[in-house]
Amino acid sequence: MSTSPIHTLDKNGQEITSVGFKRFGFDSEVPLDVLRSLYLRSHYVLTASDGKMDDIESQAEEEIQHARFTQGFSNYQSKSIFHPSTGRISYTTLSRFPPVTLLPPSARKRILVTGGAGFVGSHLVDRLMLLGHEVTVLDNFFTGSKTTVSHWIGHPNFEMVRHDVVEPFMIECDQIYHLACPASPPHYQYNAVKTIKTSFMGTLNMLGLAKRTKARFLISSTSEVYGDPEVHPQTEDYWGHVNPIGPRACYDEGKRVAETLTYGFQRQDGVDVRVARIFNTYGPRMNPYDGRVVSNFIVQALKGEDMTVYGDGKQTRSFQYIHDLVDGLIALMNSDETRPVNIGNGDEFTIGEFAELVRDIVEKVQDQDGVKRSRKVDIVYKPMPTDDPQKRRPDTTRAKESLGWQPRWTVRMGLEEMVRYYKAKMIEGSL
Ligand SMILES: NC(=O)c1ccc[n+]([C@@H]2O[C@H](COP(=O)([O-])OP(=O)(O)OC[C@H]3O[C@@H](n4cnc5c(N)ncnc54)[C@H](O)[C@@H]3O)[C@@H](O)[C@H]2O)c1
Repeated sequence: MSTSPIHTLDKNGQEITSVGFKRFGFDSEVPLDVLRSLYLRSHYVLTASDGKMDDIESQAEEEIQHARFTQGFSNYQSKSIFHPSTGRISYTTLSRFPPVTLLPPSARKRILVTGGAGFVGSHLVDRLMLLGHEVTVLDNFFTGSKTTVSHWIGHPNFEMVRHDVVEPFMIECDQIYHLACPASPPHYQYNAVKTIKTSFMGTLNMLGLAKRTKARFLISSTSEVYGDPEVHPQTEDYWGHVNPIGPRACYDEGKRVAETLTYGFQRQDGVDVRVARIFNTYGPRMNPYDGRVVSNFIVQALKGEDMTVYGDGKQTRSFQYIHDLVDGLIALMNSDETRPVNIGNGDEFTIGEFAELVRDIVEKVQDQDGVKRSRKVDIVYKPMPTDDPQKRRPDTTRAKESLGWQPRWTVRMGLEEMVRYYKAKMIEGSL
């Protein structure tokens, strides 16, 4: 059985074999293939034989399919069997956890990740777990799902708590990554009042916890605090241009007040705080139906549907791959930088160009997998929603100077992984 591993080249054409780095006394480096084995296929579903193939033939076919999705990393995968005739699925659990670093107690940290079952949170959890820390995930599963971190359930270093951050929570910890908050417009607009409560009360509760435990506190803020900016690219000193009563205000103003609260606790109570202003990020485990442009385009192209561009396609966006973001969050948490820091990728694309790039990559992956296309996917244009910013691009000078961080992943490389992830989900039947 032969499978070709994915070769990922960074912006300088060097192969990426690991993510993270050793910085500020904190080692965050882990091999990429181990990480990949967790997200590229954490829950592989086999289809039970329909009787047309004999057992050996069907088993061989299953193994080939499995190896294709996991790049041969089958050790840490759960295989579940789907029975098409009855529409039932039997779940299995992992037989072995991925090996984690054995840290001495002095280096092992107790880390709380709120929103740890979400897209960004789950990748951060994978990294912190592999590095050997004790991780507690706090999540109400509004947009997150247990399946994103299910491969850690039962591990002695891991704990998962269903809890809403709007209510106080007590735990002993050394670091808090406060990520809990829906991030995509349809999700945060679904219940705008709840979004504001989560941003304000959730942050208040977690800052209270940081004050009591003396834990270091990092909040995942957003480029949305800059609103529809009048300055390009945006530096951290720009105060923003936000509509306080528009449909996006519950999120934008929620994050602005969460930052205000964070620096209030720093000034008044000496809480040790970090503020990451995250720009548009994409990657595996992103909800395929959350209305964000990357997932929309990939799913449409994979299904052979026309790709929808809102507006004239000339508005620009920058896209950051998840591993670069997690590198940045960990570096920031362990650095001495207490000012807000932009974490994003400055490579700009017009949405029209980006749609074409996604279409090319989907075609390339389908060709590699021998899938025949019935027709070429078209790109169609529809009216722009309210308050959608025309242009946004991070100035990441501060991250480079004070964290030694800069993005390594090209958009093309990240998109290829993401297309493979969604493709696997489609075959599994969960997309
Ligand atoms: N993904 C991006 O491009 C991006 C950009 C800027 C900022 N951010 C920020 O990063 C963080 C994570 O974003 P994401 O993309 O992973 O979103 P996500 O929706 O996938 O994850 C958010 C997680 O928080 C949980 N959550 C929501 N409300 C909660 C509550 N009241 N109590 C407990 N848990 C709650 C959800 O269930 C989910 O698991 C958010 O704070 C978001 O604002 C993300």
